[in-house]
Amino acid sequence: MTRIFVTGGAGYIGAIATHQLLESGYDVTVFDDLSTGHRDAVDSRAQFVQASLLDEDALKKAIEGAHAVMHFAGKSLVGESVEKPDLYMKVNVEGSKNVLSAMRSAGVKKIVFSSSAATYGEPTESPITEESATLPTNPYGLSKLTVDILLAESEIADGFASCSLRYFNVAGALNTGKKWLGERHDPETHLIPRVLEATENNPLKIFGNDWPTSDGTCIRDYIHVVDLIEAHLSALKNLDEKGHSIINIGSGGGYSVNEVVTTAGNVLGREIPIRIDSRRAGDPAILVASIEKAKKVLSWSPTRNLESMIRDSFQSSM
Ligand code: UFG
Repeated sequence: MTRIFVTGGAGYIGAIATHQLLESGYDVTVFDDLSTGHRDAVDSRAQFVQASLLDEDALKKAIEGAHAVMHFAGKSLVGESVEKPDLYMKVNVEGSKNVLSAMRSAGVKKIVFSSSAATYGEPTESPITEESATLPTNPYGLSKLTVDILLAESEIADGFASCSLRYFNVAGALNTGKKWLGERHDPETHLIPRVLEATENNPLKIFGNDWPTSDGTCIRDYIHVVDLIEAHLSALKNLDEKGHSIINIGSGGGYSVNEVVTTAGNVLGREIPIRIDSRRAGDPAILVASIEKAKKVLSWSPTRNLESMIRDSFQSSM
């Protein structure tokens, strides 16, 4: 059996990856400090180790016997990263260095990494390709870009095979048949869960309606978490003996905040209460991925639309 070492496997995306890896016939070791993840989200068939990425000895011990790594663990809030840049450098960059060092010790040479569209910062072109300029505008994006560079270096220094998947806006949930695995962030900052929570007394705040877009609200590229994990499985199979690649993972199309609100209203059969608020610091107007590389290199295409992301997020929140 092939064992995959999944860091952050108790988090939203990592827990769904763990389940899908097990369903695909892999063995899984989950490594998670439960700082933001949930123990009950981890499939009972996976081996579980509770420890921090900053605990080098625990990493070295837990990775033994693994054949490849999926590295999801890390801090992922843009706003928090602006307030606590050192925390992001420590957990995301030092933590990832520790993962690479544990891989070296254990002779594991393959890794799929969760990178982010935040590496591009304010985009210089749309859609964004993997060749677009990387000018992160916050410490979160900088931390992800730094790890992408470390992975490129590890190809040269250690003969590692790695793939950095640059996620755009991940949404939706997975029904395992026994339960739903979805977003359970605290605080919740992402648009779709917030749309679902909105009430008359607590309307959805739309962060600006004066952006240079068709309806004045920001445009994002939403990708269903199950499609995202399918891209991970393809990336894992695709890892060559040696090499580093960077691949955008999105839908290749964009929706404005207003369009998300309208679609959610249609899916739920009720009006979503909204209030126009001021712009949120650090938001680019438009973030849309070119997914031509993912289609070509991974033979992958997303198959789930915005309605299904909203419906699945709603089901998982019940
Ligand atoms: N938005 C609102 N109201 C809310 C929440 C969000 O209007 O209550 C808007 C935002 O301003 C933005 C859009 O909805 O225009 C999407 O916001 P999210 O917070 O859901 O997602 P982001 O686009 O800010 O962030 C995502 C990932 C980050 C990643 C980033 C890439 O969550 O991890 O894309 O820039 F860094």
